[in-house]
Amino acid sequence: MLGFGTVGQGAYRMLRDNYEAIKKKVGADIEIVRVGVRDVDKPRSESGVKLTTDLRGIVDDPTIDMVIEVMGGLDPAGALIAKALESGKHVVTANKELIAKEGVDLVHIAAQRGLDLHYEAAVGGGIPLIQPLKHQLAGNDLIKLMGILNGTTNYILTKMAEEGADFDEVLALAQEKGYAEADPTSDVDGFDTQYKLAILGSIGFQKTLPPGRVYREGIRSVAKRDMEFAELFGYRIKLLGIVEAVGHGVSARVHPTMIPKDHPLADVRGVYNAVWIRGDFVGDVMFSGRGAGGDPTGSAVIGDVIDVCRNIRIGGAGNVLPQDGEIDVIAMDELVTKYYLRMIVLDAPKVLGCIATVFGNCNVSLAAMEMRTLPRQRGELVFLTHPCQEAEFLRGIKALKNLHVVDQVVNWIRVEE
Ligand code: NAP
Ligand code: HSE
Repeated sequence: MLGFGTVGQGAYRMLRDNYEAIKKKVGADIEIVRVGVRDVDKPRSESGVKLTTDLRGIVDDPTIDMVIEVMGGLDPAGALIAKALESGKHVVTANKELIAKEGVDLVHIAAQRGLDLHYEAAVGGGIPLIQPLKHQLAGNDLIKLMGILNGTTNYILTKMAEEGADFDEVLALAQEKGYAEADPTSDVDGFDTQYKLAILGSIGFQKTLPPGRVYREGIRSVAKRDMEFAELFGYRIKLLGIVEAVGHGVSARVHPTMIPKDHPLADVRGVYNAVWIRGDFVGDVMFSGRGAGGDPTGSAVIGDVIDVCRNIRIGGAGNVLPQDGEIDVIAMDELVTKYYLRMIVLDAPKVLGCIATVFGNCNVSLAAMEMRTLPRQRGELVFLTHPCQEAEFLRGIKALKNLHVVDQVVNWIRVEE
Protein backbone atom coordinates (compact mmCIF):
# COMPACT_ATOMS: atom_id res chain seq x y z
CA MET A 1 0.00 0.00 0.00
CA LEU A 2 1.25 3.51 -0.85
CA GLY A 3 -0.13 5.99 1.73
CA PHE A 4 -1.65 5.37 5.15
CA GLY A 5 -3.85 8.42 5.73
CA THR A 6 -7.66 8.64 5.84
CA VAL A 7 -8.34 6.20 2.98
CA GLY A 8 -5.37 3.89 3.54
CA GLN A 9 -6.29 3.33 7.18
CA GLY A 10 -9.99 2.90 6.25
CA ALA A 11 -9.10 0.17 3.74
CA TYR A 12 -6.75 -1.48 6.24
CA ARG A 13 -9.47 -1.45 8.93
CA MET A 14 -11.98 -3.12 6.63
CA LEU A 15 -9.54 -5.83 5.58
CA ARG A 16 -8.60 -6.47 9.24
CA ASP A 17 -12.15 -6.42 10.69
CA ASN A 18 -13.78 -8.46 7.88
CA TYR A 19 -10.75 -10.62 7.18
CA GLU A 20 -12.36 -14.07 7.44
CA ALA A 21 -15.40 -13.13 5.33
CA ILE A 22 -13.21 -11.49 2.68
CA LYS A 23 -10.85 -14.48 2.61
CA LYS A 24 -13.83 -16.77 1.98
CA LYS A 25 -15.15 -14.57 -0.82
CA VAL A 26 -11.76 -14.32 -2.51
CA GLY A 27 -10.65 -17.89 -1.88
CA ALA A 28 -7.15 -16.72 -0.91
CA ASP A 29 -5.25 -14.78 1.73
CA ILE A 30 -4.68 -11.06 1.29
CA GLU A 31 -1.73 -9.71 3.23
CA ILE A 32 -0.70 -6.07 3.39
CA VAL A 33 3.03 -6.58 3.20
CA ARG A 34 4.33 -3.00 3.55
CA VAL A 35 2.90 0.51 3.60
CA GLY A 36 4.77 3.51 2.18
CA VAL A 37 4.41 6.85 3.97
CA ARG A 38 6.26 10.14 4.30
CA ASP A 39 6.86 9.93 8.05
CA VAL A 40 6.92 6.54 9.80
CA ASP A 41 6.86 8.18 13.26
CA LYS A 42 3.65 10.15 12.72
CA PRO A 43 0.90 9.18 15.23
CA ARG A 44 -1.88 7.19 13.48
CA SER A 45 -5.15 5.64 14.64
CA GLU A 46 -4.18 2.29 13.10
CA SER A 47 -1.03 0.31 13.84
CA GLY A 48 0.01 -3.27 13.06
CA VAL A 49 1.38 -2.67 9.56
CA LYS A 50 5.01 -2.34 8.53
CA LEU A 51 5.62 1.29 7.53
CA THR A 52 8.44 2.42 5.26
CA THR A 53 9.50 5.58 3.42
CA ASP A 54 10.89 3.45 0.58
CA LEU A 55 7.89 3.54 -1.79
CA ARG A 56 9.99 2.56 -4.78
CA GLY A 57 11.03 -0.58 -2.89
CA ILE A 58 7.35 -1.59 -2.70
CA VAL A 59 6.63 -1.25 -6.43
CA ASP A 60 9.91 -3.04 -7.26
CA ASP A 61 9.35 -5.97 -4.86
CA PRO A 62 8.82 -9.11 -7.01
CA THR A 63 6.93 -10.92 -4.20
CA ILE A 64 4.09 -8.35 -4.22
CA ASP A 65 1.08 -9.02 -6.51
CA MET A 66 -0.86 -5.79 -6.11
CA VAL A 67 -0.22 -2.14 -5.19
CA ILE A 68 -2.91 0.00 -3.54
CA GLU A 69 -2.18 3.69 -4.20
CA VAL A 70 -3.87 5.92 -1.62
CA MET A 71 -1.29 8.68 -1.30
CA GLY A 72 -2.88 11.17 -3.74
CA GLY A 73 -1.38 13.80 -6.08
CA LEU A 74 0.19 13.37 -9.50
CA ASP A 75 3.83 13.09 -8.55
CA PRO A 76 5.23 10.65 -7.47
CA ALA A 77 1.94 8.63 -7.46
CA GLY A 78 1.74 8.49 -11.30
CA ALA A 79 5.32 7.28 -11.76
CA LEU A 80 4.94 4.73 -8.95
CA ILE A 81 1.74 3.29 -10.49
CA ALA A 82 3.36 3.13 -13.94
CA LYS A 83 6.37 1.35 -12.42
CA ALA A 84 4.15 -1.07 -10.48
CA LEU A 85 2.30 -1.99 -13.71
CA GLU A 86 5.55 -2.30 -15.65
CA SER A 87 6.76 -4.67 -12.92
CA GLY A 88 3.68 -6.86 -13.46
CA LYS A 89 1.61 -5.71 -10.45
CA HIS A 90 -2.11 -5.04 -10.45
CA VAL A 91 -3.05 -1.59 -9.14
CA VAL A 92 -5.99 -0.23 -7.16
CA THR A 93 -6.13 3.54 -6.66
CA ALA A 94 -8.43 6.20 -5.15
CA ASN A 95 -6.62 9.02 -6.95
CA LYS A 96 -9.22 11.02 -8.95
CA GLU A 97 -6.83 13.75 -10.11
CA LEU A 98 -4.35 11.22 -11.48
CA ILE A 99 -6.99 9.03 -13.15
CA ALA A 100 -8.76 12.08 -14.65
CA LYS A 101 -5.52 13.51 -16.06
CA GLU A 102 -3.36 10.45 -16.81
CA GLY A 103 -5.75 7.51 -16.51
CA VAL A 104 -5.91 6.69 -20.22
CA ASP A 105 -2.14 6.15 -20.45
CA LEU A 106 -2.06 4.12 -17.25
CA VAL A 107 -5.00 1.91 -18.30
CA HIS A 108 -3.21 1.28 -21.61
CA ILE A 109 -0.08 0.13 -19.78
CA ALA A 110 -2.23 -2.18 -17.62
CA ALA A 111 -4.19 -3.55 -20.59
CA GLN A 112 -1.02 -4.25 -22.62
CA ARG A 113 0.27 -6.37 -19.75
CA GLY A 114 -3.04 -8.09 -18.92
CA LEU A 115 -3.17 -6.39 -15.51
CA ASP A 116 -5.98 -4.71 -13.59
CA LEU A 117 -6.03 -0.99 -12.84
CA HIS A 118 -9.14 -0.30 -10.74
CA TYR A 119 -10.26 3.09 -9.38
CA GLU A 120 -13.79 2.73 -7.96
CA ALA A 121 -12.83 4.83 -4.89
CA ALA A 122 -11.80 7.80 -7.05
CA VAL A 123 -15.42 8.90 -7.57
CA GLY A 124 -18.19 9.01 -4.99
CA GLY A 125 -16.29 7.45 -2.05
CA GLY A 126 -18.16 4.27 -1.14
CA ILE A 127 -20.85 4.50 -3.84
CA PRO A 128 -20.50 1.89 -6.61
CA LEU A 129 -20.38 4.00 -9.80
CA ILE A 130 -17.48 2.99 -12.02
CA GLN A 131 -18.32 -0.73 -12.12
CA PRO A 132 -22.06 -0.21 -12.86
CA LEU A 133 -21.16 2.24 -15.65
CA LYS A 134 -18.55 -0.13 -17.09
CA HIS A 135 -20.73 -3.23 -16.84
CA GLN A 136 -24.41 -3.25 -15.90
CA LEU A 137 -25.28 -0.01 -17.72
CA ALA A 138 -22.86 -0.49 -20.63
CA GLY A 139 -25.58 -1.57 -23.07
CA ASN A 140 -27.27 1.82 -22.84
CA ASP A 141 -26.62 4.91 -24.86
CA LEU A 142 -26.16 7.47 -22.10
CA ILE A 143 -28.44 10.47 -22.44
CA LYS A 144 -27.45 12.41 -19.35
CA LEU A 145 -25.47 12.03 -16.13
CA MET A 146 -25.77 14.56 -13.29
CA GLY A 147 -23.96 14.23 -10.00
CA ILE A 148 -23.41 15.76 -6.61
CA LEU A 149 -19.82 14.60 -6.50
CA ASN A 150 -18.32 16.66 -3.71
CA GLY A 151 -19.30 16.24 -0.07
CA THR A 152 -17.74 19.46 1.20
CA THR A 153 -19.67 21.74 -1.15
CA ASN A 154 -22.91 19.80 -0.64
CA TYR A 155 -22.48 20.21 3.12
CA ILE A 156 -21.95 23.98 2.68
CA LEU A 157 -24.91 24.43 0.31
CA THR A 158 -27.19 22.32 2.55
CA LYS A 159 -26.31 24.41 5.62
CA MET A 160 -26.84 27.62 3.67
CA ALA A 161 -30.27 26.45 2.46
CA GLU A 162 -31.48 24.99 5.73
CA GLU A 163 -30.03 27.43 8.25
CA GLY A 164 -29.97 30.62 6.20
CA ALA A 165 -26.23 30.90 6.76
CA ASP A 166 -23.73 32.73 4.52
CA PHE A 167 -21.08 30.92 2.48
CA ASP A 168 -18.09 32.23 4.51
CA GLU A 169 -19.73 31.34 7.83
CA VAL A 170 -20.46 27.75 6.76
CA LEU A 171 -17.05 27.26 5.16
CA ALA A 172 -15.38 28.26 8.46
CA LEU A 173 -17.63 25.78 10.33
CA ALA A 174 -16.88 23.00 7.80
CA GLN A 175 -13.14 23.62 8.29
CA GLU A 176 -13.54 23.58 12.06
CA LYS A 177 -15.38 20.21 11.88
CA GLY A 178 -12.71 18.81 9.55
CA TYR A 179 -15.07 18.34 6.55
CA ALA A 180 -13.32 21.02 4.49
CA GLU A 181 -9.56 21.21 3.96
CA ALA A 182 -7.52 24.16 5.28
CA ASP A 183 -7.12 25.06 1.58
CA PRO A 184 -10.67 24.44 0.29
CA THR A 185 -9.89 25.46 -3.33
CA SER A 186 -10.16 22.01 -4.88
CA ASP A 187 -13.62 21.42 -3.38
CA VAL A 188 -15.14 24.91 -3.32
CA ASP A 189 -13.93 25.99 -6.76
CA GLY A 190 -15.14 22.78 -8.40
CA PHE A 191 -11.82 21.10 -9.36
CA ASP A 192 -12.64 17.95 -7.35
CA THR A 193 -16.01 17.65 -9.12
CA GLN A 194 -14.35 18.39 -12.49
CA TYR A 195 -11.93 15.44 -12.08
CA LYS A 196 -14.71 13.09 -10.97
CA LEU A 197 -17.00 14.13 -13.83
CA ALA A 198 -14.17 13.63 -16.35
CA ILE A 199 -13.77 10.04 -15.07
CA LEU A 200 -17.51 9.26 -15.17
CA GLY A 201 -17.98 10.97 -18.55
CA SER A 202 -15.09 9.02 -20.13
CA ILE A 203 -16.54 5.70 -18.99
CA GLY A 204 -20.16 6.58 -19.65
CA PHE A 205 -19.59 7.96 -23.14
CA GLN A 206 -16.72 5.55 -23.96
CA LYS A 207 -14.36 8.25 -25.19
CA THR A 208 -11.84 10.30 -23.24
CA LEU A 209 -13.22 13.40 -21.55
CA PRO A 210 -10.12 15.37 -20.43
CA PRO A 211 -10.80 17.37 -17.22
CA GLY A 212 -9.64 20.53 -18.99
CA ARG A 213 -12.60 20.20 -21.40
CA VAL A 214 -15.09 20.24 -18.53
CA TYR A 215 -16.35 23.80 -17.89
CA ARG A 216 -15.94 24.64 -14.19
CA GLU A 217 -17.45 27.14 -11.75
CA GLY A 218 -17.37 26.82 -7.95
CA ILE A 219 -19.89 27.84 -5.30
CA ARG A 220 -18.30 31.03 -3.92
CA SER A 221 -20.80 33.27 -5.76
CA VAL A 222 -23.90 31.56 -4.31
CA ALA A 223 -25.51 33.86 -1.70
CA LYS A 224 -28.05 33.24 1.04
CA ARG A 225 -30.42 35.44 -0.96
CA ASP A 226 -30.18 33.14 -4.00
CA MET A 227 -31.10 30.21 -1.75
CA GLU A 228 -34.20 32.10 -0.57
CA PHE A 229 -35.35 32.85 -4.12
CA ALA A 230 -34.58 29.29 -5.23
CA GLU A 231 -36.86 28.03 -2.43
CA LEU A 232 -39.59 30.47 -3.46
CA PHE A 233 -39.50 29.27 -7.10
CA GLY A 234 -39.50 25.58 -6.02
CA TYR A 235 -35.80 24.78 -6.51
CA ARG A 236 -32.65 23.90 -4.52
CA ILE A 237 -29.13 24.98 -5.44
CA LYS A 238 -26.55 22.19 -5.80
CA LEU A 239 -23.04 22.04 -7.25
CA LEU A 240 -23.68 19.60 -10.10
CA GLY A 241 -21.35 17.91 -12.52
CA ILE A 242 -23.34 17.39 -15.72
CA VAL A 243 -22.44 15.50 -18.87
CA GLU A 244 -25.16 15.28 -21.47
CA ALA A 245 -25.37 13.98 -25.04
CA VAL A 246 -25.77 16.93 -27.43
CA GLY A 247 -25.65 16.34 -31.20
CA HIS A 248 -22.53 14.28 -31.98
CA GLY A 249 -20.85 15.24 -28.71
CA VAL A 250 -21.63 16.25 -25.15
CA SER A 251 -21.96 19.27 -22.95
CA ALA A 252 -19.70 18.79 -19.91
CA ARG A 253 -19.89 21.25 -17.05
CA VAL A 254 -19.59 21.83 -13.32
CA HIS A 255 -21.47 24.76 -11.82
CA PRO A 256 -24.01 25.73 -9.16
CA THR A 257 -27.36 24.59 -10.53
CA MET A 258 -30.97 25.18 -9.54
CA ILE A 259 -32.78 21.85 -9.56
CA PRO A 260 -36.50 21.31 -8.87
CA LYS A 261 -37.26 20.25 -5.30
CA ASP A 262 -38.96 17.07 -6.56
CA HIS A 263 -35.86 15.88 -8.46
CA PRO A 264 -34.15 13.03 -6.52
CA LEU A 265 -30.85 14.97 -6.45
CA ALA A 266 -32.52 17.86 -4.59
CA ASP A 267 -32.94 15.68 -1.48
CA VAL A 268 -29.27 14.70 -1.24
CA ARG A 269 -28.15 16.54 1.89
CA GLY A 270 -24.95 17.23 3.80
CA VAL A 271 -21.78 15.37 2.88
CA TYR A 272 -23.71 12.75 0.86
CA ASN A 273 -23.00 12.31 -2.86
CA ALA A 274 -25.34 11.04 -5.58
CA VAL A 275 -25.26 10.40 -9.31
CA TRP A 276 -28.39 10.37 -11.44
CA ILE A 277 -28.14 8.71 -14.85
CA ARG A 278 -30.57 8.58 -17.76
CA GLY A 279 -29.92 5.76 -20.26
CA ASP A 280 -31.92 5.01 -23.39
CA PHE A 281 -33.09 1.58 -22.15
CA VAL A 282 -32.66 1.64 -18.39
CA GLY A 283 -34.43 4.98 -17.97
CA ASP A 284 -33.50 6.93 -14.85
CA VAL A 285 -31.33 5.46 -12.11
CA MET A 286 -29.71 7.07 -9.10
CA PHE A 287 -26.82 5.97 -6.88
CA SER A 288 -26.27 7.70 -3.55
CA GLY A 289 -24.28 7.32 -0.38
CA ARG A 290 -21.29 8.58 1.54
CA GLY A 291 -18.91 10.17 -0.95
CA ALA A 292 -15.93 10.68 1.33
CA GLY A 293 -14.27 9.52 4.52
CA GLY A 294 -12.00 6.63 5.44
CA ASP A 295 -14.59 3.87 5.93
CA PRO A 296 -16.76 4.41 2.80
CA THR A 297 -13.77 5.09 0.56
CA GLY A 298 -11.88 2.19 2.14
CA SER A 299 -14.89 -0.01 1.30
CA ALA A 300 -14.59 0.92 -2.39
CA VAL A 301 -10.83 0.25 -2.31
CA ILE A 302 -11.34 -3.20 -0.77
CA GLY A 303 -14.11 -3.96 -3.29
CA ASP A 304 -11.56 -3.36 -6.05
CA VAL A 305 -8.93 -5.41 -4.20
CA ILE A 306 -11.35 -8.35 -4.02
CA ASP A 307 -12.13 -7.99 -7.73
CA VAL A 308 -8.42 -8.02 -8.59
CA CYS A 309 -7.85 -11.10 -6.39
CA ARG A 310 -10.65 -12.95 -8.17
CA ASN A 311 -9.18 -11.95 -11.54
CA ILE A 312 -5.75 -13.19 -10.44
CA ARG A 313 -7.32 -16.53 -9.53
CA ILE A 314 -9.08 -16.93 -12.89
CA GLY A 315 -6.15 -15.44 -14.82
CA GLY A 316 -8.00 -12.49 -16.39
CA ALA A 317 -8.17 -8.73 -16.10
CA GLY A 318 -11.23 -6.49 -15.91
CA ASN A 319 -10.09 -3.26 -17.53
CA VAL A 320 -12.44 -1.43 -19.81
CA LEU A 321 -10.66 0.97 -22.12
CA PRO A 322 -12.37 4.13 -23.34
CA GLN A 323 -12.50 3.93 -27.14
CA ASP A 324 -9.62 5.85 -28.70
CA GLY A 325 -10.10 9.56 -29.11
CA GLU A 326 -11.67 12.40 -27.20
CA ILE A 327 -15.34 13.25 -26.82
CA ASP A 328 -16.48 16.23 -28.83
CA VAL A 329 -17.44 18.82 -26.18
CA ILE A 330 -19.73 21.69 -27.22
CA ALA A 331 -18.74 25.25 -26.28
CA MET A 332 -20.67 26.71 -23.32
CA ASP A 333 -21.98 29.44 -25.67
CA GLU A 334 -23.98 26.72 -27.44
CA LEU A 335 -25.59 25.36 -24.28
CA VAL A 336 -29.37 25.68 -24.16
CA THR A 337 -30.81 25.84 -20.66
CA LYS A 338 -32.95 27.97 -18.34
CA TYR A 339 -31.46 30.73 -16.18
CA TYR A 340 -32.12 32.45 -12.86
CA LEU A 341 -31.06 36.09 -12.65
CA ARG A 342 -30.96 38.48 -9.68
CA MET A 343 -30.30 42.21 -10.01
CA ILE A 344 -30.76 45.58 -8.31
CA VAL A 345 -32.69 48.09 -10.40
CA LEU A 346 -34.26 51.53 -10.21
CA ASP A 347 -37.86 51.18 -8.97
CA ALA A 348 -39.67 53.46 -11.45
CA PRO A 349 -42.14 53.35 -14.37
CA LYS A 350 -41.01 51.60 -17.59
CA VAL A 351 -38.04 49.87 -15.94
CA LEU A 352 -39.52 46.38 -16.32
CA GLY A 353 -40.44 47.13 -19.94
CA CYS A 354 -36.88 48.29 -20.65
CA ILE A 355 -35.38 45.09 -19.22
CA ALA A 356 -37.89 42.82 -20.98
CA THR A 357 -37.10 44.54 -24.29
CA VAL A 358 -33.35 43.92 -23.86
CA PHE A 359 -34.01 40.22 -23.27
CA GLY A 360 -36.55 40.05 -26.11
CA ASN A 361 -33.93 41.48 -28.48
CA CYS A 362 -31.61 38.63 -27.46
CA ASN A 363 -34.30 35.95 -27.99
CA VAL A 364 -34.55 35.34 -24.25
CA SER A 365 -38.09 34.69 -23.06
CA LEU A 366 -38.92 35.38 -19.41
CA ALA A 367 -40.86 32.70 -17.50
CA ALA A 368 -41.26 34.02 -13.94
CA MET A 369 -40.50 37.13 -11.94
CA GLU A 370 -40.28 38.31 -8.29
CA MET A 371 -39.57 41.82 -7.06
CA ARG A 372 -38.77 43.18 -3.59
CA THR A 373 -38.82 46.89 -2.80
CA LEU A 374 -35.55 48.25 -1.41
CA PRO A 375 -34.73 51.63 0.18
CA ARG A 376 -33.70 54.64 -1.98
CA GLN A 377 -36.22 53.86 -4.76
CA ARG A 378 -34.49 50.60 -5.65
CA GLY A 379 -35.87 47.12 -6.28
CA GLU A 380 -34.42 43.61 -6.13
CA LEU A 381 -35.60 41.97 -9.34
CA VAL A 382 -35.41 38.23 -9.97
CA PHE A 383 -36.23 36.39 -13.22
CA LEU A 384 -36.42 32.82 -14.41
CA THR A 385 -36.09 32.42 -18.17
CA HIS A 386 -37.39 29.81 -20.58
CA PRO A 387 -34.64 27.71 -22.21
CA CYS A 388 -32.35 29.87 -24.33
CA GLN A 389 -28.86 29.75 -25.74
CA GLU A 390 -26.12 30.76 -23.28
CA ALA A 391 -24.52 33.14 -25.82
CA GLU A 392 -27.83 35.01 -26.16
CA PHE A 393 -28.40 35.11 -22.39
CA LEU A 394 -24.91 36.54 -21.83
CA ARG A 395 -25.48 39.10 -24.61
CA GLY A 396 -28.62 40.14 -22.68
CA ILE A 397 -26.68 40.43 -19.39
CA LYS A 398 -24.04 42.60 -21.09
CA ALA A 399 -26.71 44.90 -22.49
CA LEU A 400 -28.48 45.09 -19.10
CA LYS A 401 -25.26 46.21 -17.40
CA ASN A 402 -25.25 49.23 -19.75
CA LEU A 403 -28.83 50.27 -18.88
CA HIS A 404 -29.00 53.31 -16.58
CA VAL A 405 -31.95 51.67 -14.73
CA VAL A 406 -29.83 48.65 -13.71
CA ASP A 407 -27.56 49.26 -10.69
CA GLN A 408 -26.12 45.76 -10.47
CA VAL A 409 -26.51 42.30 -11.98
CA VAL A 410 -25.86 40.47 -8.71
CA ASN A 411 -25.88 36.81 -9.75
CA TRP A 412 -27.18 34.33 -12.31
CA ILE A 413 -27.43 30.54 -12.06
CA ARG A 414 -28.25 27.84 -14.62
CA VAL A 415 -31.50 25.93 -14.01
CA GLU A 416 -32.15 22.22 -14.74
CA GLU A 417 -35.56 20.60 -15.06
P1 NAP B 1 -4.20 11.68 3.38
O1 NAP B 1 -5.02 11.42 4.58
O2 NAP B 1 -3.51 12.98 3.24
O3 NAP B 1 -3.10 10.51 3.30
C1 NAP B 1 -2.09 10.49 2.35
C2 NAP B 1 -1.08 9.41 2.72
O4 NAP B 1 -0.10 9.31 1.70
C3 NAP B 1 -0.32 9.70 4.03
O5 NAP B 1 -0.15 8.51 4.75
C4 NAP B 1 1.02 10.24 3.55
O6 NAP B 1 2.09 9.92 4.40
C5 NAP B 1 1.21 9.49 2.24
N1 NAP B 1 1.97 10.28 1.27
C6 NAP B 1 1.54 11.35 0.55
N2 NAP B 1 2.53 11.79 -0.25
C7 NAP B 1 3.59 10.97 -0.04
C8 NAP B 1 4.90 10.91 -0.57
N3 NAP B 1 5.33 11.78 -1.49
N4 NAP B 1 5.72 9.93 -0.13
C9 NAP B 1 5.30 9.04 0.81
N5 NAP B 1 4.05 9.05 1.33
C10 NAP B 1 3.23 10.00 0.92
O7 NAP B 1 -5.05 11.46 2.05
P2 NAP B 1 -6.42 10.66 1.88
O8 NAP B 1 -7.54 11.54 2.28
O9 NAP B 1 -6.30 9.32 2.49
O10 NAP B 1 -6.51 10.55 0.28
C11 NAP B 1 -5.76 9.59 -0.43
C12 NAP B 1 -6.27 9.50 -1.86
O11 NAP B 1 -7.64 9.12 -1.85
C13 NAP B 1 -6.23 10.82 -2.65
O12 NAP B 1 -5.96 10.54 -3.99
C14 NAP B 1 -7.66 11.36 -2.50
O13 NAP B 1 -8.04 12.20 -3.56
C15 NAP B 1 -8.44 10.07 -2.57
N6 NAP B 1 -9.76 10.11 -1.95
C16 NAP B 1 -9.88 10.56 -0.67
C17 NAP B 1 -11.15 10.56 -0.08
C18 NAP B 1 -11.35 11.02 1.32
O14 NAP B 1 -12.48 11.03 1.79
N7 NAP B 1 -10.29 11.40 2.05
C19 NAP B 1 -12.25 10.09 -0.81
C20 NAP B 1 -12.07 9.62 -2.12
C21 NAP B 1 -10.81 9.63 -2.67
P3 NAP B 1 2.18 10.48 5.93
O15 NAP B 1 1.01 9.86 6.63
O16 NAP B 1 3.48 10.03 6.46
O17 NAP B 1 2.06 11.97 5.82
N1 HSE C 1 -12.89 16.47 -0.78
C1 HSE C 1 -13.76 15.47 -1.29
C2 HSE C 1 -15.22 15.82 -0.92
C3 HSE C 1 -13.35 14.12 -0.73
O1 HSE C 1 -15.47 16.76 -0.16
O2 HSE C 1 -16.12 15.17 -1.42
C4 HSE C 1 -13.86 12.95 -1.51
O3 HSE C 1 -13.32 12.87 -2.79
